[in-house]
Amino acid sequence: MIKLNIDGNDIEVEECTTILEAARKANIDIPTLCYLKEINEIGDCRMCIVEVEGRRGFATSCIQKAEEGMIVHTNTPKVVEARKMVLDLILSNHERDCLTCVRNGNCELQKLAQDFGVTDIRYEGAKNKHEVDDKSPSIVRDFGKCVLCRRCVSTCKKVQGIGAIDCAERGFASCISTAENHSLNDVNCTFCGQCIVNCPVGALKEKDNTKEVWEKLKDKETTVIVQTAPAVRVGLGEEFGMPIGTNVARKNGYGIKKIRI
Ligand code: FES
Repeated sequence: MIKLNIDGNDIEVEECTTILEAARKANIDIPTLCYLKEINEIGDCRMCIVEVEGRRGFATSCIQKAEEGMIVHTNTPKVVEARKMVLDLILSNHERDCLTCVRNGNCELQKLAQDFGVTDIRYEGAKNKHEVDDKSPSIVRDFGKCVLCRRCVSTCKKVQGIGAIDCAERGFASCISTAENHSLNDVNCTFCGQCIVNCPVGALKEKDNTKEVWEKLKDKETTVIVQTAPAVRVGLGEEFGMPIGTNVARKNGYGIKKIRI
């Protein structure tokens, strides 16, 4: 076990525990953005920086391991100012159409900006321009909102084992891309949506078919079936009187080839 002190609290943690996890164990809040426990621990965004007595500069708490006798300060004026700077820089290259964003009210970046009282953007300048990729049937990627946290990349690679997306380019031109920058629709993406679940902002979102559904509802020539459960391929068969659990997506199943929704 390792003994350290965080914000005046003596804490004991197992060897190899990060400062962030040690702080969480003691209910001390350190803000994070790129960190996803056991999935994305890359120390990229620097929101989690802390001061360690006797060390120059800041320590990145999500990757820095706790050490015996360490004295850590998580909330000094210097730390707060540096985190504000990080937020300012991220926001300077971010589409700030929060009111119409799907993640409005549920956005980690928005919450951090509120928590740190970021109301003015100090740095205005060049912005990365990328087209919105909405060619896939279910996932929309809006690069203008990407914070390059790489949580989607790690989730796709480590959790789903697919690796459809990765980091591309360098420096200011860095972006999350697919092989040869194809649309998600044209690579090995399975449209599982786990990247959306772990995106902290509105850079990845589900495709919204509400408008099309309204159009179909207005069309008197179309019989509209609404299925809200996630397992459409199974639930739909039940609605047609088939045994529960019948997979109507099977080609050799019950002969349902096309159902208009
Ligand atoms: S949360 Fe630690 S660097 Fe992003």
